[in-house]
This record gives sequence, structure tokens and C-alpha cells, in this order.
Amino acid sequence: MTGGGQAALEARDLFRFFRAGEEETLALRGVSLAVQPGEIVAVVGPSGSGKSTLLGCLAGLDEPAGGTVWIDGERVSHRSEAERAAIRARSVGVLFQVGNLIEHLTVIENVALAQRLSTADAPDPTVVIDRVGLGSRARAYPSQLSGGEAARAGLAVALANNPKVLLADEPTGELDGETEQRLLALLRTHADAGCGVLVVTHSPDVVAIADRVVALSDGQVVS
Ligand SMILES: Nc1ncnc2c1ncn2[C@@H]1O[C@H](COP(=O)(O)OP(=O)(O)O)[C@@H](O)[C@H]1O
Ligand SMILES: [Mg+2]
Repeated sequence: MTGGGQAALEARDLFRFFRAGEEETLALRGVSLAVQPGEIVAVVGPSGSGKSTLLGCLAGLDEPAGGTVWIDGERVSHRSEAERAAIRARSVGVLFQVGNLIEHLTVIENVALAQRLSTADAPDPTVVIDRVGLGSRARAYPSQLSGGEAARAGLAVALANNPKVLLADEPTGELDGETEQRLLALLRTHADAGCGVLVVTHSPDVVAIADRVVALSDGQVVS
């Protein structure tokens, strides 16, 4: 691993500790991984193994105590919060369990807001919404959407700026099988367009479509 190069996402030797009183949790203990453009990587592991902590560090939402993260060759870790936010807005799509939709904005307004926060060249919001098959729901508010529609609206926001990297934390956890398949097809389409996709999941269906699986245990990569 070179640190620059062609990887959409690269992490080297990430460490993250949490301290509560006398007790210290080693949530990440030297995690290294890379996701190439066009690749879907699934991250699996038992509850508490560090998956969400890893995603936070990769997204630049959290700062590792040690190690380095690069997005499209640009270092994200060990920078100011403002710099990390700018890189994230431009190059990273984030789809976490708690939705990324703002309740008092419509679907199309949510997408437009994500685009205004970024310096990236963004496609027209209607194009982004059509891509996830929500064209007819563009003017709906999040509370008016079904679970599957909300998941796709969240994906539209995550993809609003054609990110180099998409990070998702159990994006299909609440979805029925058919809606899950639809979301996975959208992830594949985006990967085929050159995005590196990393998905934390417990779903065998997500693992089945992944190009590679990274297993975490106790804050370390075990396979
Ligand atoms: N903000 C926090 N404060 C203290 N401990 C935390 C915090 N976030 C996560 N942890 C601990 O770090 C470990 C990894 O958590 P997490 O990354 O959420 O695991 P996973 O997503 O795999 O279930 C767990 O032991 C968890 O309790
Ligand atoms: Mg988690």
C-alpha cells in the first residue's frame, strides 16, 4: 500500500480507543484495508467488533488515535474538522442507520442541500432522484415515504455529489428482501461507474453480492 495510488479508499493501521473512567475499550487495533474504484467490500463481524467505529474514521466523522485514512489519494485523518468535512462533502457518500434525511425538507430539497454543501460538480437533483427510482416521490417529505422509499431517498442524498467512496452502515437492515435487492442493484450500478463501496452488514444477501469480505473481530481484521 502506497498511501497515494489508485485506491478509492485506503486505511492503514487505524487505532481508536474509548475511555470511560478506569475502563478502556480498544475499538480499533491496527485496521488496514483498501477499496478500489468499482469494488464493493462488505465488512462483517459480531456486535461490538468495531465496525461502526471504523466507518466513522473512514468517513472523517471521527478521528483515529493512530493510523491514516486516504480518500482518492487525499489524506483525511489528522486534519481539522472543517477540512475533513469539506473532503467528505466532495468525495464521500455516507449512508448510516440513522437516516441522513432532514425531516422538514422534501426528497429533492434534501438532495439539493447535500449538493450546496459540496464543491463537487453535481448532477441535476432530479437526475439523482430518477437514478434511485424515486422520480414520482421527489416532492414528498421523509415522513410520507415507505421504508424502502426512505432507504432509496437516503441513498440519493449519499450519491448526490457522485462520490468517489460510498460508506454504508447496515443500509438494508430494515428492508424486506425485494427492497434490499433493489438497493443492492443501485450500489452495484454506482460501483460500476467507478465508486468504491464499503458496506457494513449482517445480511447474507449483501455479502453474496460483495466482491470481497473483510471480517472484523475485537477491533482487528481477521480475514
Ligand atoms: N462513543 C463510545 N464511547 C465508548 N465506547 C464506545 C463508543 N463507541 C463505541 N464504543 C465501544 O467500541 C467497541 C466497538 O463498537 P462499534 O464500533 O459500535 O461496534 P460494532 O459497530 O461492530 O457493533 C464496543 O466495545 C463499543 O462499546
Ligand atoms: Mg455498529
